[in-house]
Amino acid sequence: MFKTLGIFLLLLIAQINATCVVDAAYGQSTNRIFATISRNRLEILRKNAVPNGTKLRVLCSATNYVDSTCRNGQFNPALPTTNCSPKPDPKHEAVQDASCPAPATMYRMGYRLGPNHFLEIYRSCYDVTSQRSLFSIHEIDSDTKNPPRTGCWRVTDVVVIIPSFQAKNIYRRFNEIFNNQQTYITSPGRPYKFNRGHLTPSADFGFCDQMRATFRYINVVAQFADVNDSNWSRVENWVRRMRDLHGKMTVCTGGIGVLELDDVAGNPRDIYLVRGNRNPVPKWTYKIIRSHSNRNVHYAVITYNHAENPVQPASLCTPLSCVSLGLQVSPAPNSGYTYCCDANDFIIRNVQNLQNVC
Ligand SMILES: *[C@@H]1O[C@H](CO)[C@@H](O)[C@H](O)[C@H]1NC(C)=O
Ligand SMILES: *[C@@H]1O[C@H](CO)[C@@H](O)[C@H](O)[C@H]1NC(C)=O
Ligand SMILES: *[C@@H]1O[C@H](CO)[C@@H](O)[C@H](O)[C@H]1NC(C)=O
Repeated sequence: MFKTLGIFLLLLIAQINATCVVDAAYGQSTNRIFATISRNRLEILRKNAVPNGTKLRVLCSATNYVDSTCRNGQFNPALPTTNCSPKPDPKHEAVQDASCPAPATMYRMGYRLGPNHFLEIYRSCYDVTSQRSLFSIHEIDSDTKNPPRTGCWRVTDVVVIIPSFQAKNIYRRFNEIFNNQQTYITSPGRPYKFNRGHLTPSADFGFCDQMRATFRYINVVAQFADVNDSNWSRVENWVRRMRDLHGKMTVCTGGIGVLELDDVAGNPRDIYLVRGNRNPVPKWTYKIIRSHSNRNVHYAVITYNHAENPVQPASLCTPLSCVSLGLQVSPAPNSGYTYCCDANDFIIRNVQNLQNVC
């Protein structure tokens, strides 16, 4: 009995040692692209630890790369230590995708390596005319440890944003919407009332270049800062815990509706950050997670994007207990009302275009 247990433990240790880790320091210092090769297909590497036998391609470009295999805990040959020059830059390109309803266009963000080869980091359904991000789709995997942002970039390097998200312009726009009679935003500076909320969060990725790629306006909606910092950040952290428990998952993140705020007379006004019904602030943000290995792990979480409404809004789905899903929402005021839902119920009622996607 003890002997069997001993052998079992030895095997377990051998197996753990057989995984190869792209360590954090290396991940931060390199500007290369990492992909796995399986059956001659390349897929972007989303995790920092890979099992024995995994073949990696570490690229500067489609023609300049090093292939390396994980053998008993070591990459063989060793991962290249020289950087690419020029540094590969992910780009977005339009792609056909039936889940993204016209007139919006699906854009995928990633690396084009050839006519038939694209390494995708995430995709986002964006309506150019109304300047609205409807939703994004990305995959996440366990064994992902994201490097600290500060090791990856200076914010000024990466943010690609349209002016209407800037705090001083949001302030100006609020005064326009409310004819200079509003107390929602009282100054053009800090503390900011609204954040640029990421749909696909940078912290879901284990490599600097993938994190940086999330800082694009196609991936951003305006979000009450208090909501983002409280219940919504709990939702994001919960998604990563679910990933660590259940492995590979597809995540869809989006906004629903247009936020309404009351004017001084108590009449609701739609909040568009640009005149002519453009760049709406969503009323709700949602996330849907679908595990690739456990079909029971399929949930949606929605958060009301209004930090100052004392009235709890009705849910957009039949609510489940968030606690039973391992999500503890904050009881504090100003953190955004949050509901957890069965994914299919939420999708059928609100985002039928995401059926069979998320
Ligand atoms: C790792 O893979 C190699 C080559 O396939 C194999 O020989 C070795 O036994 C594997 N190691 C472990 C610990 O499974
Ligand atoms: C939103 O909240 C997350 C988690 O607290 C934080 O990392 C992020 O910086 C916030 N977003 C913005 C744009 O401030
Ligand atoms: C965060 O969500 C929970 C569940 O909806 C809610 O009880 C709590 O009040 C929220 N925070 C708010 C509304 O500020």
